[in-house]
Amino acid sequence: MANDFSKVHVALGDRAYDIIIGANLDILQFLRRGRGGSSALIVTNEKVGPLYSPNLTESLRKIYDKVLSVVLPDGELHKNWQTLNNIYDALLENGCDRKTVLFALGGGVVGDMAGFAAASYMRGIPFVQIPTTLLSQVDSSVGGKTAINHPLGKNMIGAFYQPKLVVCDLRLLDSLPLRELRAGLAEIIKYGPIYDIKFFDWLEKFIPQLLARDTTELSYAVRRCCEIKAEVVGKDEQESGLRAILNFGHTFGHAIESGMGYGVWLHGEGVAAGMVMAAELSHRLGLLEESFVRRLRILIERAGLPTKGPILDSDDNAGRYLQLMKIDKKSDMGEIRFVLIDGPGKAVVQGAPEALVREVIEACCA
Ligand code: NAD
Ligand code: GLY
Repeated sequence: MANDFSKVHVALGDRAYDIIIGANLDILQFLRRGRGGSSALIVTNEKVGPLYSPNLTESLRKIYDKVLSVVLPDGELHKNWQTLNNIYDALLENGCDRKTVLFALGGGVVGDMAGFAAASYMRGIPFVQIPTTLLSQVDSSVGGKTAINHPLGKNMIGAFYQPKLVVCDLRLLDSLPLRELRAGLAEIIKYGPIYDIKFFDWLEKFIPQLLARDTTELSYAVRRCCEIKAEVVGKDEQESGLRAILNFGHTFGHAIESGMGYGVWLHGEGVAAGMVMAAELSHRLGLLEESFVRRLRILIERAGLPTKGPILDSDDNAGRYLQLMKIDKKSDMGEIRFVLIDGPGKAVVQGAPEALVREVIEACCA
């Protein structure tokens, strides 16, 4: 039975779309019937597919003539060209045309890859995001960043390409392992320091309810994060300025992910430790009170996330971080640009003296 839902609009002119948030949603409420000869391709993975693909297929069969699916191997390690090719193979082998609608059923890895396939197949076909992890519901399914990894850098090959619709069904989170739920909390926490300090205060109160998957609190948190993301993306879709603030913690975090080998640290875990490092750097640059760095560290700890980065190289740890961080999309002529906190609730993007960054890495890794 379908329940109440809330709607967040992403205002992007002719690329505008809605994000639907609720529990036990009936997706057919939000889709238009395909025209004669229409087809849909569900892109999912070997873990999520068996759980949720049969129901989705049954629903989509009511409005599409043909419902196909492609099941990808699971994990960040497979977010690459070879796996992406499986999607193109499925599209081509089944004679899919430009009207085929692609449905991304999975977490951020599936969503990012399916989105990139949709952006590039026949120069663009429509796609719908059905995010199944907390992280993908509050971040990756919204805003149109699609990508695969390169061995030398994370999300280095991709495109901006907006979905037609995002459907966040909180019931899908019931089967999510606790470690993955915690990783999603990292991206939720991120929105407080960069944009909405009242939301950060709220999280300090309600983190136990979020960890317990309480639907009321989860629903509020997912909605608030989507509202913030929609607002930021609505102002700066292609990251020429403001949108970069959504990468708070990601410069250090991406270095952790690729330095450890994709899939060893979860994306959210890298972001968690990365946020502490970026906050500490903000403090040492004189932008942020130490007391707020402490508050952030405590909240991250209470969410069960790492507050220290791993040692990536026992001979020159800071050097290795710096080397990895230079391959960042925010880098400018080789200069690393960090998302820093310029007082609680306000972010700035700027460079920092290398010696200071080294000090922060030494202080924040174990
Ligand atoms: P993920 O997609 O790897 O999912 C995490 C794990 O949970 C996987 O093993 C997956 O199969 C499993 N899973 C997913 N849904 C499940 C469910 N309902 N029940 C049980 N298991 C389930 O990881 P993620 O954390 O969702 O996404 C991380 C990825 O998102 C990274 O590649 C990151 O770069 C990307 N990302 C993109 C953006 C963006 O704006 N596009 C933003 C943030 C992160
Ligand atoms: N997750 C960062 C962004 O969408 O810009």
